[in-house]
Amino acid sequence: MVNVRKVAMIGCGFVGSASCFALMQSGLFSEMVLIDANQEKAEGEALDISHGLPFASPMQIYAGTYDDIVDAAIIIISAGAGQKPGETRLDLVKKNVGIFQSILPEIAKRDVQGILLVVANPVDILTYVAQKMSGLPENRVFGSGTVLDTARLQYMLGQHLAVDPRNVDAMIIGEHGDSEIAAWSCVRVSGVPLDDFCEMRGHFHHEQSMYKIAQDVKNSAYEIIEKKKATYYGIAMSVKRICEAIIRDEKSVLPVSSAMHGEYGLNDVTLSMPAIVGKDGIETLVPMELNEKEQEELQQSSIVLKDVIQQAFH
Ligand code: 2OP
Repeated sequence: MVNVRKVAMIGCGFVGSASCFALMQSGLFSEMVLIDANQEKAEGEALDISHGLPFASPMQIYAGTYDDIVDAAIIIISAGAGQKPGETRLDLVKKNVGIFQSILPEIAKRDVQGILLVVANPVDILTYVAQKMSGLPENRVFGSGTVLDTARLQYMLGQHLAVDPRNVDAMIIGEHGDSEIAAWSCVRVSGVPLDDFCEMRGHFHHEQSMYKIAQDVKNSAYEIIEKKKATYYGIAMSVKRICEAIIRDEKSVLPVSSAMHGEYGLNDVTLSMPAIVGKDGIETLVPMELNEKEQEELQQSSIVLKDVIQQAFH
């Protein structure tokens, strides 16, 4: 039986513990188990985060083992090495696929009924591995994908246009990484086409501004890692947002990383496209009307990921 109020976090590094901190404050769960190869680290994080509980809602927070994941509604995997300055997400593939190959059999051998949310990088590749090795149905295994990049895009557009980023309907799709695509042709701000909204706010160099914003989004992680060695608050909020959509069965449209089966002409690859997310995980993909350039970029992004999959597994 699934406990719909329980979440498990595998990996208690910066991303795992920041996500647990965000989840503790969210009030979504009444039980949270933290698992790490270093048991003491998991225990320390569980204690530290629990001490904020008198200022939030009551829940159980503890360090546990794989036996504790069985009834969790959501199992999050953040375990793995993070990028160092100068590294790309794809540079992490060997190390983190190795780590996943030790974690996933632990999941596969238990009767897990919950949803597996992959957060570690390279998230698209690791989601692919998790789909192959976890033994769970595909709709219940997906990655945080470009939910964070999308938030960065909404934030930056919000700043540029001096408008609430929640009114910015925009998405980054494809790889969570260097080949990601800003789907400009689909952007609306409170229903208004982007160029019109820009002009209303006194901006006229559309091409130039869009290029710069997309580059800044893409390079955000590099900039942050250069300055503070790791990124974790943005991803923590993204994890919280995805958990919210699942636990409340919101059927929210989120750009999570999932397997493609002929959509946009893509097959046997895992990347981010908008999907309806609810209590059973991914319900369905939402078709986007991409222009020709965006469709080509999406093919390129898929080629990049497929090459890495090839190298890692064949
Ligand atoms: C990020 O985009 C490094 O993937 C992480 O912040």
